[in-house]
Amino acid sequence: MCGIIGYTGPLQAKDVLLNGLSQLEYRGYDSAGIAYFGPETDVHVVKTTGKVAQLRELCKSVREESHCGIGHTRWATHGGVTVENAHPHQAGKVTLIHNGIIENYHQLTVDFQLEGKLISQTDSEVAARVLDAIYDGDPLASIRRLIPLLEGSYGFCILFSDHPGEIYAVRNVSPLVAAYTHSGSIIASDLTALIPYTKKYAVVPENKIVRLTPYRMEFYEMDGQPARPEFLEVNWDTDAAMKNGFPHFMLKEIHEQPEALKNTILPRLSRGLPDFGEDKIPDALFARCSQIRIVACGTAMHAGMVARAVMEPLLRIPVLVSVASEFRYEDPLVSEETLTIVISQSGETIDTLAALRLAKELGSRVLSVVNVKGSTIARESDFVLYTHAGPEIAVASTKAYSVQLAALYMIACRMALVRGKMTEEEGAAFMKDLLDVIPAMEEMLRQSEEIKNIVRPLVDKPDAFFIGRNLDYAFSLEGALKLKEISYIHADAYAAGELKHGTIALIADQVPVIALATQDRVFSKMISNVREVKARGAYVILITKNGAEAAADLADVRIRIPDLHDRFTVFPIAVVLQLIAYYASLLKGLDVDQPRNLAKSVTVE
Ligand code: G6P
Repeated sequence: MCGIIGYTGPLQAKDVLLNGLSQLEYRGYDSAGIAYFGPETDVHVVKTTGKVAQLRELCKSVREESHCGIGHTRWATHGGVTVENAHPHQAGKVTLIHNGIIENYHQLTVDFQLEGKLISQTDSEVAARVLDAIYDGDPLASIRRLIPLLEGSYGFCILFSDHPGEIYAVRNVSPLVAAYTHSGSIIASDLTALIPYTKKYAVVPENKIVRLTPYRMEFYEMDGQPARPEFLEVNWDTDAAMKNGFPHFMLKEIHEQPEALKNTILPRLSRGLPDFGEDKIPDALFARCSQIRIVACGTAMHAGMVARAVMEPLLRIPVLVSVASEFRYEDPLVSEETLTIVISQSGETIDTLAALRLAKELGSRVLSVVNVKGSTIARESDFVLYTHAGPEIAVASTKAYSVQLAALYMIACRMALVRGKMTEEEGAAFMKDLLDVIPAMEEMLRQSEEIKNIVRPLVDKPDAFFIGRNLDYAFSLEGALKLKEISYIHADAYAAGELKHGTIALIADQVPVIALATQDRVFSKMISNVREVKARGAYVILITKNGAEAAADLADVRIRIPDLHDRFTVFPIAVVLQLIAYYASLLKGLDVDQPRNLAKSVTVE
């Protein structure tokens, strides 16, 4: 979690840092701070609780010039949201910012006799004090001595007050990317902060030390030898990380879905069939496995649930989905014959990364579906299928979900072809159906105003229920997550047939039920379940295909999506459910893009 940035060069450091923190704020927004070298080579710290906007206000009184500094936006882990706990932390000559968790902070407190000296309750300040205690005037050597003392994950950017103009950085697990540009050197936890300055960047390798000066960027091995990082190029532009006239990133990203789908699907189509040649994913990977394990967190896991419901009937092999944080501890049945599919927008979610490592240890080959190029999960996987959603800034994931689905559907199709479960003709028809979802999504986007009106009666309700059968159930899970995370309405999804085994006790007068009935095979059963909740007074929003027959008195409101094959209705439904959540949050006057307690990229366990 936490966004970190460092800059040294000819520009005003304060402005670069504050602008970078605004770009990174989706990584955490409990508190924020910067540190910079003043004209007298002393290091000044400005920090506050609250958002980057508050820090910006505070910084208005900073008049002095500075060309080197570091900045941090926090998602609290150790210690509450207080100014003391906000970063940067200072100890003697050391000023640092940290993303991650130092697990052995307590032992370090004892070993370095820090009790009584600590100003904050953070593990990060412990790291700062330990580094100060071992600092001998040589930053590189001191950082080298620090690293073996630390257990846990970290991305640090460090200023030493006797080395003005220089920033030192090191990481373990937590991400860091860096670039040297004609406007100086810049480092950050996330690409979005670098895009305004450059498209070429280096992924800071784990356990290498980086020194940034205004004129160069140097990487060192732990033994002091120079190291060579990998340089990558991003195809996002600055506009992609701006709101471009939309009131919120979330709404912009919902609207970007048709384009993102085209970018993800079209370059991988060859004679109408999925082709992963450019991605260097061999057919042998799909031919030889006897089971698939899908592992992910949050929305990415929900994309996995949909993929499971499509893949297992198609491929006739077991497909299991696990929440990454559980997978690690459930002693999973994984072997050389397992294909593990890892899904992650950021490519940095720590539980997903740990699950990936475990799957590899157990002999499985790992194919990841990732949005951020060069991210840790992408680099550690055997194969990567990049989704081309561009930067997703709103904390609630939208376009990343639909492109993950598109990528997974393409994998399902390619696998079915390779395993003889589909003819080329069937494969081409499948891909045509997949492309047809794009105009279907556009059609739902055109109904935004109607959906906004449908949402109005929901906003003062404490609860909402999403129900569906089969694939509709998998879609409901994401609908409920979207609504609860940004509107704070308690929302849950249930397999409609399971409702009467307990949950129906909660259905009373005017309780909202969002019923998804787009699966032809179970349509009539689903309609019976809708009748059951309606009979108990529920306020029913029913989503069906255009042509589906349903009695007028069945629902309070009906939303119709285009007539697609059952497998593909998730795409227009995703738009509808995203818009329901968006408008619920908006009408409640909440912070749509940065809901409370959440962060975009979860790099702590
Ligand atoms: C966080 C985000 C979610 C996301 C999940 C997994 O909880 O708020 O939107 O789905 O992490 O993130 P990943 O980057 O691995 O897809």
